Amino acid sequence: MKYSIGTVISIKKIGEGIFDLRVAEPGIARDAEPGQFVCLYSDDGAHLLPRPISICERDEESVRLVFRIAGYGTKEFSEKKPGDTVRILGPIGNPYPAFTSNVIVVGGGIGIPPMLYLARKCKEAGLKVTTVLGYRDKNTFLDEEFKAYGDVIIATDNGDLGVHGTVVDAIREKDLDVSLVCACGPMPMLKGLSKYVLEKGGRCYVSLEERMACGVGACLGCITKTKQVDGHSHVKNQRICTEGPVFDASELDW
Ligand SMILES: Cc1cc2nc3c(=O)[nH]c(=O)nc-3n(C[C@H](O)[C@H](O)[C@H](O)COP(=O)(O)OP(=O)(O)OC[C@H]3O[C@@H](n4cnc5c(N)ncnc54)[C@H](O)[C@@H]3O)c2cc1C
Ligand code: FES
Repeated sequence: MKYSIGTVISIKKIGEGIFDLRVAEPGIARDAEPGQFVCLYSDDGAHLLPRPISICERDEESVRLVFRIAGYGTKEFSEKKPGDTVRILGPIGNPYPAFTSNVIVVGGGIGIPPMLYLARKCKEAGLKVTTVLGYRDKNTFLDEEFKAYGDVIIATDNGDLGVHGTVVDAIREKDLDVSLVCACGPMPMLKGLSKYVLEKGGRCYVSLEERMACGVGACLGCITKTKQVDGHSHVKNQRICTEGPVFDASELDW
């Protein structure tokens, strides 16, 4: 994990309130694995806490971050211009394991970006990748890019596009083999999906994007309940920023 000053290479709006930011920082980019995230810091000293953003993609020189404006920090990042600097810490957290069997990659809403890097990595490993993406309506983003890695199935809450319903409805409707599923998205989606996959006897890895404070394991502000006792706190909790954000869903106490 490295703290650095990155330089903005590009920034563009790719959806309503959604921005695609490319930051040059080779020391972070070269080590980044799918499922890991970076923390970006505001330039305003009044906002001390870092904002965690998942790594959507990387190359040897830079990381790509796709985020939705939620409040002060993300608004500030959306107003960056090429050549501006941004304080960045990363890569943080445990990534998805390296898989050896075909995988279903599932993303919901602003949980979609980190799944792009995972889909690429799995495809490069020679695995068959099927992607299932959940959106509110027809205002999709990144879906075209997933097509480079395999079949893409879309579900929308209002039925605008693809399957009318949730990602679980889409998986059920298409009768997909759920032996191995990886997902990131809102908590109700992750809970529903992991219940479905585990009941079918599959393995399910979820990336949790809960609220964080320090981002580096010090404050216990990001715990999730687990079945195993944590060696750090000696209770059935794990820190999402340090032991996660990727967890084997069968180990979570939901
Ligand atoms: C591991 C991890 C990875 C993440 N990856 C991404 C990503 O790739 N793209 C992206 O757009 N967002 C991502 N998030 C969420 C992102 O960190 C928050 O939206 C951001 O910190 C909000 O900061 P802000 O200053 O803009 O909003 P604030 O002014 O701090 O808060 C504005 C509103 O957003 C809510 N909020 C704050 N943090 C979160 C959160 N973690 N989840 C949901 N609501 C929140 C607050 O309660 C408040 O209502 C991730 C979060 C985590 C923990
Ligand atoms: S955010 Fe502080 S311990 Fe995870």
